Amino acid sequence: MIGIFDSGVGGMTVAKAVEQLLPEHPLLYLGDIARTPYGPKSAKTIEEYSIENTRFLIRNGAKIIVIACNSASSVATGRLRREFNLPIFEVITPAVNAAVKQSATGRIGVIGTRATIDSGLYEKLIHQHNAKFKVVSKACPLLVSLVEEGWLNKRETKMILRRYLSYFKDFQIDTLVLGCTHYPLLSQLIQHRVGRRVQLIDSSQATAQYLKQCLVDSTISTPIPGHTARENKYYVTDLTKTAEGVAQTIFQRPIELLRA
Ligand code: DGL
Repeated sequence: MIGIFDSGVGGMTVAKAVEQLLPEHPLLYLGDIARTPYGPKSAKTIEEYSIENTRFLIRNGAKIIVIACNSASSVATGRLRREFNLPIFEVITPAVNAAVKQSATGRIGVIGTRATIDSGLYEKLIHQHNAKFKVVSKACPLLVSLVEEGWLNKRETKMILRRYLSYFKDFQIDTLVLGCTHYPLLSQLIQHRVGRRVQLIDSSQATAQYLKQCLVDSTISTPIPGHTARENKYYVTDLTKTAEGVAQTIFQRPIELLRA
């Protein structure tokens, strides 16, 4: 069983992508809504929360952990890998691989929460592929709240995006990594703002594809013939109307959220 956790329901963008690519793999999700957001928190706190989330998933049968949250992936992956003896996937490496592959000019932009951008991990991993690549990163902390409010197409959201994304104007990036669970929901607005010549990398899609490749010849999580996405379990550490709303927007179907 694949266990996925996030600071809240935004990580369901990853879960949805995994469900679509690996429909017969049972999936267990934990959204830590009671303590969201992680983006403005310290690395130490995010690490502690990530350990607790992982314990919950393992207790409930997970054999692989996917850290869907970019903030937790950035600061807690090393600690989780030391602490737990099972495969731990994160969302940064797949997004970096996809960005490096797709960028023709080697000028890559990254947007994310403060925790993600301050960690410098995207930059570090991109430079491990190619030290000559130019990486420009920008924290966009207001975007998570706008998505959670359902302001996906509001004038105010467009204004804030314009302000954040104008940062990239002088860098002539050809690729922009959406380094946060919530940003795929704004991808149309973001694409419109940066123009069609800039390719967006959706870390949720990249992660699901990476996971699929890794599971092909593996026995850690095996498909169960006949298993359907509707049997997957979605747990949250608090039940709120906002969470239900975001979950429904992501899946485009009602999702039953269970209290962890
Ligand atoms: N899940 C977080 C991320 O991808 C965004 C929300 C939060 O700050 O907790 O970085």
